[in-house]
Amino acid sequence: MQVKHLITVKDLRVEEIKYLQSLFNEFKRGRKEKLDGRSALLFLESSTRTRLSFEIALRNLGMETYYIGRGESSMEKGESFGDTIKNFSALGFRLVVFRVPFVLYPYESYLVENISLINAGDGTHQHPTQGLIDLFTAMEHYPSLENLKILFVGDILHSRVFRSSGELFRMFGAQLGVCGPATLIPSDLSPFGEVRVFDSVDEGIEWADLVVYLRLQEERFKENYISSKEAYFLQFGLTKERYRKLKGYFMHPGPVNVYVDIDGELVYGDKSLVLKQVQNGLYVRKAVVYYLLVG
Ligand code: CP
Repeated sequence: MQVKHLITVKDLRVEEIKYLQSLFNEFKRGRKEKLDGRSALLFLESSTRTRLSFEIALRNLGMETYYIGRGESSMEKGESFGDTIKNFSALGFRLVVFRVPFVLYPYESYLVENISLINAGDGTHQHPTQGLIDLFTAMEHYPSLENLKILFVGDILHSRVFRSSGELFRMFGAQLGVCGPATLIPSDLSPFGEVRVFDSVDEGIEWADLVVYLRLQEERFKENYISSKEAYFLQFGLTKERYRKLKGYFMHPGPVNVYVDIDGELVYGDKSLVLKQVQNGLYVRKAVVYYLLVG
């Protein structure tokens, strides 16, 4: 049997995204569905939002759901990711949602018959359901994404969210900008299409209709990319002065490092979509699971 997977947003076509958005809207309005079978959450990196919203979504949809966290699977003993998935398949699982610290690309060799895989974050590569959350949340708050100016601020180099949300925003006609320390901007931005690079976050904010703040992913730092968190906040962070100048909303996928990414008093302010993103996460994940398993 041919099953569907969601590993990268690059595999999604615009029509599929629109269909996922219609499912998202229906689940948000209260649509109820019942699926059966076993699902697993294999999370080898920490998570609050993604893990809980997937777990709630799977339970609400009626699936048997099992969680395996870091240090709990036999991958600790050297078993490969591919062999782990084969064993889930042998145990009759229909679906595995995974978060791993490494990049799963190319991923075709990991695909197993009868089991759908959902990428909930693989290293610096992709976080497709976060991308869909950001896309649908932006679409709820702006009349159109066509030519909307969207600025990503922070650690672009390590961001799987930029690689997912940015790609989806671009597919729907948005213009992209990035801003951050030169050490945390990829030297080659050409895979992301036309991207405007801002040295000054103040200039970027003046340009942007929507600003997406990203966390400094210190757990992936291989060297000292910034001089200090205090200096980083002053140079790039969302301060009260910059907040006043925002033309529209700001987003952050979470977790927010307060007074590094954003002033702690602003995280849930009137211009913040942070908790809207979290709430939408549940319906995006229901929509994705339903789409992959039912159609
Ligand atoms: N946005 C996101 O992936 O958050 P968590 O790491 O808490 O799941």
